[in-house]
Amino acid sequence: MNTEYRSQKSEVRSQKRWCIILLFCILYSVFYVLLFSSDALAIKKTKGEIDVAKRCILCHSQLSPGIVNDWEKSNHAKAQVTCIDCHQADTTDADARKHEGEVISAIVSPKDCSRCHPKQVMEFNESMHSKAVSFIKNPETPESSSGSGQVLEGDRAGDDTLAYKIEGKAAAVMGCEKCHGSVIKVKTRSERSESNGIFDKDTWPNNGIGRVNPDGSKGSCTACHTRHLFSITEARTPEACGTCHMGPDHPQYEIYMESKHGVIYSSEKHKWNMEVAPSVWDTKYFRAPTCATCHMSGIGMLEPSHNVSERLSWELKWPLSEKRKDWKNKRERMQMVCLSCHSKNWVEGYYQQFDNVISLYNEEYYKPIKKEMDELYKLGYLTKDKFDEDLEFKFFEYWHHEGRRARMGASMMGPDYTQWHGFYELARGRVELKRMINEIRERKDKGK
Ligand code: HEC
Ligand code: HEC
Ligand code: HEC
Ligand code: HEC
Ligand code: HEC
Ligand code: HEC
Ligand code: HEC
Ligand code: HEC
Repeated sequence: MNTEYRSQKSEVRSQKRWCIILLFCILYSVFYVLLFSSDALAIKKTKGEIDVAKRCILCHSQLSPGIVNDWEKSNHAKAQVTCIDCHQADTTDADARKHEGEVISAIVSPKDCSRCHPKQVMEFNESMHSKAVSFIKNPETPESSSGSGQVLEGDRAGDDTLAYKIEGKAAAVMGCEKCHGSVIKVKTRSERSESNGIFDKDTWPNNGIGRVNPDGSKGSCTACHTRHLFSITEARTPEACGTCHMGPDHPQYEIYMESKHGVIYSSEKHKWNMEVAPSVWDTKYFRAPTCATCHMSGIGMLEPSHNVSERLSWELKWPLSEKRKDWKNKRERMQMVCLSCHSKNWVEGYYQQFDNVISLYNEEYYKPIKKEMDELYKLGYLTKDKFDEDLEFKFFEYWHHEGRRARMGASMMGPDYTQWHGFYELARGRVELKRMINEIRERKDKGK
């Protein structure tokens, strides 16, 4: 009975499947007529181009319906920007590949987007986001010990033993590089068979913020507005940033969710209209800022920008916080955001409290311990290698975890991160570091 029931069921299912396919085809014909016949189209297309576009959509609606569904709902579809407008490539492009009579690339880089969105790409290029790969590769950055973190986990430059290549890379490929970006490698010609433009699988898929693309451009726009919807609503949510901006060393997402701004967002986001075009999105549509509002959006007289670095006066992520170049103008820009909802006295008071936290950390917590660490290295009491001694781990966490939490908590109104995850742990850490430093000194002074 069971088998009979099952075969009946599968028959019904297969009939159903045919009905669905038929319905699909009808809907698609209607869809094409609507899509390609309207006169109010953003992008004009020749008949040949329309035919190509149709072929991509038709085949991929069977093959990867998720992609086509997303695209259909996007403003790109409404503006007649189709698959080939983004995926087209020149035969000379490093990642070009022949595909169904066209030359395409799977990667649509910021350079490709810049054909239609030059302003956003230019601003993005000016930001630290576009430089996020060089920092994890460069051991000379102010945060060199974190760069060594990658070495620590196995990615030893120059070490060609098989174990390191596989295990070491694995951690960085799925960790650091998912946030910072990979350097995408296209398989060399000789390795390519009929399928050109195939990427080295250790380097792609990757949508890290500063990814180095085969065409030389930097970044991945889908890091914030995921394909194929490319929605501004999504990019405006704190969750879009939270993929990368979270955790023990840069908990901006957690800090934000703790702040009153985040609380207001959580309690009434369903009532906010987050789809409004950037040129008009303002306090009429939201009562509290999200990450994007403070760091990117236009508000009041301030213009929107994809340069997330242009409103920051301090370097908070560095071991020692320093003021940035041109910091006064940058601070003024951020203050223009606050002033849409707060008074001048409120904002100035807040910045004074914030600045005081930074100098407390710099002067009382970082500089004295750093001085003692430098002395130990000078005396040869610590080896030059990073992360081969307990003390080095402790010192790293002191500024990279606790020290950052204290500073970042204060910068974004998260009192618990400033206090209990921040200064309290710094105070404890300082006692412990001093004890460890003294122990090493005593031991080494005695020649042990
Ligand atoms: C006759 C069917 C067919 C047509 C027409 C077609 N594709 Fe594909 N496409 C495929 C298949 C099969 C694959 C490989 C399997 C997969 O990736 O799911 C693929 C893969 C892709 C990929 C991913 C490549 C990768 O390396 O991951 C992209 C991008 C793509 N197609 C874009 C396009 C564009 C743009 C067009 C229109 C010019 C198009 N396709 C037309 C069948 C088709
Ligand atoms: C606005 C530009 C844009 C349009 C329009 C577009 N794509 Fe893409 N597509 C992208 C981007 C960006 C990626 C991400 C690739 C990367 O950066 O790694 C991508 C990735 C892909 C991939 C491979 C990655 C995956 O998730 O499997 C396929 C396949 C693909 N697109 C197919 C299509 C098809 C089919 C259409 C038309 C229905 C289409 N694309 C329209 C920008 C676009
Ligand atoms: C062929 C031109 C073209 C290309 C290439 C293109 N876009 Fe667009 N894009 C448009 C047009 C046209 C609109 C609609 C503008 C509007 O609605 O005002 C748009 C709108 C957008 C929006 C706003 C969507 C919204 O919700 O309002 C985003 C985000 C976006 N594009 C991102 C990208 C990204 C990222 C790429 C590259 C991966 C890209 N676009 C490639 C033409 C293009
Ligand atoms: C969850 C995402 C994520 C992972 C995983 C990650 N990072 Fe980061 N990293 C960030 C973010 C976000 C910042 C910026 C923090 C800030 O600006 O406050 C950052 C900052 C840095 C900086 C400082 C850059 C500068 O401008 O001074 C370095 C260096 C760095 N990371 C290296 C690494 C290394 C090496 C790894 C792997 C061992 C790694 N990161 C893993 C997200 C990540
Ligand atoms: C860090 C996250 C982030 C990244 C990365 C990002 N965007 Fe955006 N994008 C946003 C946000 C947030 C908005 C909405 C801004 C606002 O509220 O004014 C936006 C808006 C847009 C718009 C709509 C502009 C308008 O005036 O209609 C376009 C187009 C766009 N982005 C393209 C891109 C392109 C191209 C890239 C890659 C170079 C990119 N974005 C990368 C977050 C991002
Ligand atoms: C895919 C990961 C990723 C996403 C998503 C992301 N970021 Fe970042 N962000 C980073 C990394 C990595 C850095 C550090 C870059 C560096 O210093 O080299 C960074 C740095 C920053 C900085 C500091 C820039 C500076 O000059 O020091 C700000 C501000 C920032 N991000 C804001 C945002 C906002 C707002 C969003 C969401 C709209 C966002 N980010 C989404 C990875 C990401
Ligand atoms: C109320 C506005 C506001 C909101 C909301 C906000 N930030 Fe910030 N953010 C700031 C201010 C102010 C600073 C410090 C600016 C300075 O240095 O002058 C800052 C600093 C930063 C930094 C720089 C750290 C460094 O290394 O210098 C990053 C990264 C960052 N924010 C990311 C985020 C993310 C991600 C979110 C959302 C989860 C967010 N911010 C929400 C105002 C905001
Ligand atoms: C879109 C409006 C908006 C913007 C922009 C905005 N805030 Fe707020 N902020 C609010 C609201 C609403 C509250 C909640 C007030 C209350 O507690 O009644 C708040 C609360 C605060 C608080 C009190 C936090 C607490 O724990 O009680 C501080 C401090 C603050 N904001 C500082 C800033 C700073 C600094 C900026 C700019 C970097 C900023 N805000 C940008 C709307 C905004």
